[in-house]
Amino acid sequence: MTRQWPPYEMMESALVDRAQARLDKLERLYHVGQNNIWDGREVLDALIAKHGKPTLPPDKKESALKVLSILLWGELAAWAISADLAERIDDVEAKMAATSQAHDEARHFYVLRDYLRALGEPVPRLGGIGRRLLLSILETPSLVHKLIGMQLLTESNALAIFRGLVDSKIEPVLAELLPYYEKDEARHVGLGVMYLPRLLRQLSRVETAGVVAFQLRSIAMLMSAGINMHDHFRNLGIDPRKMAEYTMKLQDDVTRDMLADAPSGHGHRRRDSVRGLLNPAAGFGPRILDFLHPRGGIAARPTWHRTTMRVWKRAAAAVDRALA
Ligand SMILES: [Fe+2]
Ligand SMILES: [Fe+2]
Repeated sequence: MTRQWPPYEMMESALVDRAQARLDKLERLYHVGQNNIWDGREVLDALIAKHGKPTLPPDKKESALKVLSILLWGELAAWAISADLAERIDDVEAKMAATSQAHDEARHFYVLRDYLRALGEPVPRLGGIGRRLLLSILETPSLVHKLIGMQLLTESNALAIFRGLVDSKIEPVLAELLPYYEKDEARHVGLGVMYLPRLLRQLSRVETAGVVAFQLRSIAMLMSAGINMHDHFRNLGIDPRKMAEYTMKLQDDVTRDMLADAPSGHGHRRRDSVRGLLNPAAGFGPRILDFLHPRGGIAARPTWHRTTMRVWKRAAAAVDRALA
């Protein structure tokens, strides 16, 4: 009796309310999505009317098309994955959020396709590593893997690329188009933030280890695919280190949001709700960041570092070609 005193849960009378509030927030993703729907044809037509037919500067064309190809096929994958989530998630509120996302991703895909058609340039093939990564998220039977792979890892990387492309102002139609994407994508991350903790709590130890392994594999693929793109990003005036920092910050925000949303009171219960979820910003991330993108440039680094990077880059390029 005395051990249970004071009855802290009395102050948590809002527990049921809070659970309800979380569901409401999840459902709201759908309604906010509906209110913010933009007509892709109208937006693209208006931008082309304003700036004229889009053309890429010759010295940046190859790099820009490589990046746009990743985004195009990434949007198609996001469309399939969110439609799959919409079908398989049981909770009505999360199902609504995933359905709204599928509608957004369809728009993202066709608008980017139409933009590329307006450019009139052939779209280069997707690199093999990026292709394998998207396939692994498409094909995994696990809802948790799908949500982590798409909502957390791929969406945050895509957001960093959008930001980089907008800031680099390669082409005015694209620079004004992508902020529409960014707004939608920020909402998509919300589904992962609100729904994942519920799924993660139910995982066994073995399943949790599987989640960690899936993330490590996905992160390794993202990094290797990224290495192949560094020169292209630099050519577009996008600093790869800044982009990686932005991605890590987004993933850190997501993890914080999840913890803030989890039941309060006991630290371990909070951590429990995101167990198995890696937050690069809190652990290995900064070290990898300094290794991949050393401050002051790779040329100033010792021989072992330069050699390792050269070997990794060459291997990643070979694997990328082999898997393409
Ligand atoms: Fe998208
Ligand atoms: Fe998305």
